[in-house]
Amino acid sequence: MRYLLIFCSLLIANCKEKDSRFEKLSTFNPGQDWLDNRGKHINAHGGGILLHDNTYFWYGEHKIEGKIGNTAQVGVHLYTSTDLYNWRDEGIVLQVDETNSNSDISKGCILERPKVLFNDKTNKFVMWFHLEPKNQNYSSALTGVAISNSPRGPFRFIKSLRPNKGVWPLNVKKFHKKKVPKITKKIYCGGPECMPHHVDSLNILGRDFEIGQMSRDMTLFKDDDGKAYQLYSSEENSTLHISQLSDDYLSHSGTYKRFFQYRFMEAPTIIKKNGKYFIIASGCTGWNPNAARSASADNIFGPWTELGNPCIGENANTTFNSQGTFILKVKNTENYIFMADRWKPSNPIEGKYIWLPLNISDNNSIELEWQEKWDLSIFN
Ligand code: GAL
Repeated sequence: MRYLLIFCSLLIANCKEKDSRFEKLSTFNPGQDWLDNRGKHINAHGGGILLHDNTYFWYGEHKIEGKIGNTAQVGVHLYTSTDLYNWRDEGIVLQVDETNSNSDISKGCILERPKVLFNDKTNKFVMWFHLEPKNQNYSSALTGVAISNSPRGPFRFIKSLRPNKGVWPLNVKKFHKKKVPKITKKIYCGGPECMPHHVDSLNILGRDFEIGQMSRDMTLFKDDDGKAYQLYSSEENSTLHISQLSDDYLSHSGTYKRFFQYRFMEAPTIIKKNGKYFIIASGCTGWNPNAARSASADNIFGPWTELGNPCIGENANTTFNSQGTFILKVKNTENYIFMADRWKPSNPIEGKYIWLPLNISDNNSIELEWQEKWDLSIFN
């Protein structure tokens, strides 16, 4: 018994020492390792943040060592914080399926850019993500939906789908309903280089009408009136769709529109400030960074006006060597943080996070400037 007591007190002393070894953070250090409460670099890539009951919930892709880490070997990782600098590891909230290789989320699938919303009507937490079932590379272009009773999970995978099967967008044109050119059927496109003809002359929308529209890079947005939207790169990544969700957030409502045709916008992020909507997206160059684009609108269904690259200064043409994933509204303020990933496809677990203050001025110009180190007082 005495030895047991000694052992326990040594264990407690050791744990205390471990905790105090990690000083509390009070700054953002873009591009550096970002240590969680256990002293490990945060593992939540392509992530998004939900603010719920005064706590920030950061959901992202859990990556592992080596190139295999570009596929989902584990699932979606959650961290929580109340101050945005210090994050607590809450573990995996959506697990890939290790037992059923026929599951769409079987271990080894591609599961990217998870985003979570809280539905006030159903009291459920709903997660959407980009999903490519195992061994299909990026050809399926599906979106996945999962649900939980708690922001801490566990999330239960419900379904995967192609959005808006058999439904035309609000801004469909007559030619979409005509015959689809033959060459269109063969296209497998990851970027502008493989689509020499304008997307509308190829009629990719018409091609996919019956099977549902492609959905790769994506984000979710909940508006002030509780209506939610999914924004996703569609039509072989060439065109962004904005699609309203059903009231329970588990399906699409059937109301959607296509924007930025043939602009190949990926990594969509969106916020609303003083009644105006802003989008920041990337170009389409895989893991390699490119220049961001921005756009604004008075209505989520447009018209959207492109505003150009919001980044200024050195490395503005590569979004400071990163690609956006989310725009975070700081609680109880009108201040916004642009969150991006500095990917490392050769060893994805080492990918870094680039968080920068987003400056939206009264005349609606939108700017991102590099900061080596900063804190929330920058907004004062
Ligand atoms: C990027 C995309 C990432 C991932 C990657 C794969 O453009 O934003 O989420 O899909 O391509 O090459």
